[in-house]
Amino acid sequence: HARIFPCLKHYLLLFLSTLSLSHTPASIYVNQTQHCKMLPGMVSSQAQLCRSNLELMQTIIQAAREVKKTCQKTFGDMRWNCSSIDIPPDATKYRPDLDRGTREAAFVYALSAATISHTIARACTTGDLRLCSCGPIPAEIPEPGYRWGGCADNLHYGLIMGSKFNDAPMKMKRSGSHANKLMHLHNSEVGRQVLREALVKKCKCHGVSGSCSIRTCWRGLQDLREIAMDLKTKYLSATKVVHRPMGTRKQLVPKDIDIRPVRENELVYLQSSSDFCSKNDKQGSVGTQDRQCNRTSLGSDSCDLMCCGRGYNPYTEKLVERCHCKYHWCCYVTCKKCERIVERYVCK
Ligand SMILES: *[C@@H]1O[C@H](CO)[C@@H](O)[C@H](O)[C@H]1NC(C)=O
Ligand SMILES: *[C@@H]1O[C@H](CO)[C@@H](O)[C@H](O)[C@H]1NC(C)=O
Ligand SMILES: *[C@@H]1O[C@H](CO)[C@@H](O)[C@H](O)[C@H]1NC(C)=O
Repeated sequence: HARIFPCLKHYLLLFLSTLSLSHTPASIYVNQTQHCKMLPGMVSSQAQLCRSNLELMQTIIQAAREVKKTCQKTFGDMRWNCSSIDIPPDATKYRPDLDRGTREAAFVYALSAATISHTIARACTTGDLRLCSCGPIPAEIPEPGYRWGGCADNLHYGLIMGSKFNDAPMKMKRSGSHANKLMHLHNSEVGRQVLREALVKKCKCHGVSGSCSIRTCWRGLQDLREIAMDLKTKYLSATKVVHRPMGTRKQLVPKDIDIRPVRENELVYLQSSSDFCSKNDKQGSVGTQDRQCNRTSLGSDSCDLMCCGRGYNPYTEKLVERCHCKYHWCCYVTCKKCERIVERYVCK
C-alpha cells in the first residue's frame, strides 16, 4: 500500500505527534513562544494557534491525555485495546493499525476531534480559559419549576477552536493522500456531531431543605466516557468506503452497498483491519496472548472471543477487601480486612 498512500507516513506522524502531546508532563506550563516550538510535530497553523493562545494549548495537551485514557478504557474489553495510541514523545514510527485508514483509525480520529472540543468547552466553563466563558442561555422558555442558570458548557467555542486545531493537519495541501484526508475529516466531523448531541439539560435542586421547589438548569456536556461509548457503537458498524469519482470529483462512497453517499453519522474506513488475534508488527497487532478474559461473559471479553479459540490459562489472585464494617456512634466506621481468592484467566 506504500504506492497507494505515498505521503501518508509524513501526514500521520503529524497527527500522531499531536497525540504524543499526551506525554507532555503535567508540570510543564506552556508559557512562551519557544514552548510552541518545543511541542512536537505541530503543523504551522497549529503552532500559530499555540503562539496566539498559550492557554488554549494547555487545554489541548490535557485533551490529548484524555483521548488516550478514554480510548484505552473504552476498548479494554476488546482484542484491539488501543495500546498503539501510546506513542513515545520521540517517536519516528507509529503503529500500522492507526496509519492504514482502518476502522480503528476512524475511531481514534473521531474520539480525538470530540475530545479536543469537549475539553475546550469545559475549560470555558471552569474558568481555565480566559478568552471564553459560559455558553449562552437557551432561548426556549423553561418548563414551570425550572429556570435557566448556572454556567453552560461553551460548545460553540469548543467546536470552533477544537476543529481549527484538530483538522489543521488534514487541511494541509501537501500532506497525505486525498482519500485519507477525506476519511479523517469525515470521521472527525462524526466525532463532533456526537459531541453536539451530548449537550444535554443538567439541573440542580433548590428550595427549602432540599424540597426542590425550583430547579436551576443549564446545558452541559455528557462525560467523555459516554461519548466514547457512542463512538464505539459507530465503530462496530462502520462502513467500508472506496475513493472514486462521484459527480465532478472523487469522493468516499460505500464499497459494497448500492450507490449512496456516505452518511454524516457513520464512521468510515478504507482498509480492513487485522483480527488482532496474534502478534503482527506489519499490521500493528500486538495479539491477545496474556490478555485477561472472562469465562462467563458472552461479550467481546469472553475467553472464546478474546483468545481466538487458543484457550486460556487460569491463575488465582488474592484480593484484600474491607469487610465486617461497623458504624460507631458518632461518627466513624471501622472495618476488618478480608482476603478472598478469585480465579482469573489469561489467553494462551
Ligand atoms: C516560563 O517557564 C519557564 C520554565 O518552563 C520558566 O523558567 C519561566 O520563568 C517562565 N516564564 C514566565 C514568564 O512565566
Ligand atoms: C493491551 O493489550 C496488550 C497486549 O496484550 C497489553 O500488553 C497491554 O497492557 C494492554 N493495554 C491496556 C491499556 O490494557
Ligand atoms: C465476567 O462477566 C460476567 C458476565 O458479563 C460479569 O458479571 C462479571 O463481573 C465479569 N467478571 C470479571 C472479573 O470481569
